[in-house]
Amino acid sequence: MTDLSGYGPWAVIAGGSEGVGAEFAGQLADAGLNLVLIARKSVPLDQTANSCRERGVEVRTLALDLVAPDAVARIVEATADVDVGLLVYNAGANTCSEHFLDGDLAAFSRVIDLNVGSMLALVQHFGRPMRERRRGGILLVGSMAGYLGSMRHTVYGGVKAFGRIFAESLWLELREYNVDVLELVLGVTRTPAMERVGLNFDMPGMHVAEPADVAREGLEQLPNGPVYVAAGNAGDVARRNDPDRAKVVLGTHRFMQKLLGSR
Ligand SMILES: NC(=O)c1ccc[n+]([C@@H]2O[C@H](COP(=O)([O-])OP(=O)(O)OC[C@H]3O[C@@H](n4cnc5c(N)ncnc54)[C@H](OP(=O)(O)O)[C@@H]3O)[C@@H](O)[C@H]2O)c1
Repeated sequence: MTDLSGYGPWAVIAGGSEGVGAEFAGQLADAGLNLVLIARKSVPLDQTANSCRERGVEVRTLALDLVAPDAVARIVEATADVDVGLLVYNAGANTCSEHFLDGDLAAFSRVIDLNVGSMLALVQHFGRPMRERRRGGILLVGSMAGYLGSMRHTVYGGVKAFGRIFAESLWLELREYNVDVLELVLGVTRTPAMERVGLNFDMPGMHVAEPADVAREGLEQLPNGPVYVAAGNAGDVARRNDPDRAKVVLGTHRFMQKLLGSR
């Protein structure tokens, strides 16, 4: 197990109340890091915070929407007096699954704001003192959807591709400063958000990862950036990188149609 104490004394988890984010919180609390947990719904946020406090660490909660205009300013204010050695940016599941020409542009823009705009602002704010101190970690949660175009993922797939290239570049820039950067790439993972959108995890042929496992993999691999594909999906990602894009995009689309029995 990686020694996480060097990423303390405080970690900020954007999207730290449920699923993978809650598992990051619990595992970091077990390692003795104090936490700032951010999410919209206060009930799961408080539950996760309390379970981390029981492990002996300090926890602050911020119930806010990361795409609200004042979100970053509130996070900056709430963390002004603490030394943040780790930023985990986990929030970012798709919130607009319309076909692109049928969807509301403002709803697509919120997917971009959450996965790009707010993420960039927090990385810059917390990354600068890490570089100064020559110590820290930045863990961004990505998706296999960022490796190829797929139906109803025009914007979501695009922002997840952006996140990976951004992480690779940032990793390169921060290596000499001893600041670790990792994009943790997830496939289907059993989270409350996915349950709420009605994903059937029991579908035959569906490879489903558990939040505790992928969070553990992410924290273990944080020193080994820039990208780690969790839950044994690296072979699938390698196939998605084939330069024959029509073959890959159509082939994966047909496989998903068969799996989901959909259009
Ligand atoms: N689950 C999967 O199958 C899967 C597959 C590939 C990649 N991923 C990636 O894994 C990450 C986690 O996904 P997830 O399935 O757990 O869903 P999620 O909707 O991203 O939720 C994760 C956490 O973020 C919070 N959150 C979401 N939107 C927020 C917002 N606008 N402002 C503040 N907090 C927000 C959630 O709490 P609240 O809802 O209370 O705000 C929750 O604590 C995402 O980056 C996603 O792209 C997931």
